[in-house]
Amino acid sequence: MRSLLFVPADSAKMLDKAMMCGADALIVDLEDSIAPDGKTRARQSAAAFLKTAHRVASRPYILVRVNGLRTGLTDADLDAVVSASPDAIMLPKAEGGASVVHADAKLAVREARSDLPEGHVKILPIATETAGALFLAGTFAGASARLIGLTWGAEDLSADLGAQANRDEHGRFLDPYRLARTLCLAGAAAAQVPAIDTVYVDFRDADGFRAECEEGLRDGFSGKMAIHPAQVPIINEVFTPNTEAIARAQAIVDAFAKNPDVGVVGIGGVMYDRPHLARAQQLLTRAASTRK
Ligand code: COA
Ligand code: MG
Repeated sequence: MRSLLFVPADSAKMLDKAMMCGADALIVDLEDSIAPDGKTRARQSAAAFLKTAHRVASRPYILVRVNGLRTGLTDADLDAVVSASPDAIMLPKAEGGASVVHADAKLAVREARSDLPEGHVKILPIATETAGALFLAGTFAGASARLIGLTWGAEDLSADLGAQANRDEHGRFLDPYRLARTLCLAGAAAAQVPAIDTVYVDFRDADGFRAECEEGLRDGFSGKMAIHPAQVPIINEVFTPNTEAIARAQAIVDAFAKNPDVGVVGIGGVMYDRPHLARAQQLLTRAASTRK
């Protein structure tokens, strides 16, 4: 999954528009973009949207962002949406693998009630939204077969840390958030799931957004979350391997296939060893999955 677009669950108009915008996934939001007294209506709107979306032949993957486990709202969120069969829930303010185990159990109960196979609804945690969560970023491995990735957030974390800003005057994340970003990458790799980069809220700044997508790709993220449809094509372009990158990766894989007994090969005057082979294979897998 390259692009995951947030859409407030209470906006039928935005939900319709989002279906057509080319995003690989939509995140129907019941959390931060919904005011406290709008939750009930938003849940109903999310469930109605899911039912309609299931009738669309070629639709994006659909996640519902529920409210965090400490809010007391998660059960009512799940009661409203699980029977409408979302592909996944996004779990905000996750605190390590234990919170995924907790959400897994809540989902299993609703799946049983709704006649859905156990494990049908997957989980994408936001792994860095509280200070405590940072210390648990390495605990997601093996928590649940529902885990499809890890993502990270800087807005709630800055509130929890009592910070005045999370980016510098050039729009670059400050140290505490670069740490959170790195912990998300490492936590995801340790759990053998994709890492998804966080949102860029300045949605009119296409150049800054593209630069941040390119940084994410360089550092190992598989995709990025969006808050506005204009961000989607930029994410899809940056996170789709281009023909040059595919050819380079294929040359490395071919060179090792021709010489299965060696640990290192030279191509065009550059040395490639086993980690380069692993990276080349990952890129080809990603290229194949985006061609589908
Ligand atoms: N999903 C689907 N459609 C969206 C959208 C989104 N996330 N964001 C904007 N649009 C639509 C608008 O409705 C508008 O449609 P129209 O041309 O038919 O009127 C069009 O795209 C252009 O929008 P624009 O005028 O540029 O922005 P806006 O002022 O309407 O909306 C936001 C700006 C920030 C309010 C809106 O992008 C948004 O709500 N984003 C998601 C926020 C969110 O979920 N946050 C929580 C996670 S951090
Ligand atoms: Mg938040």
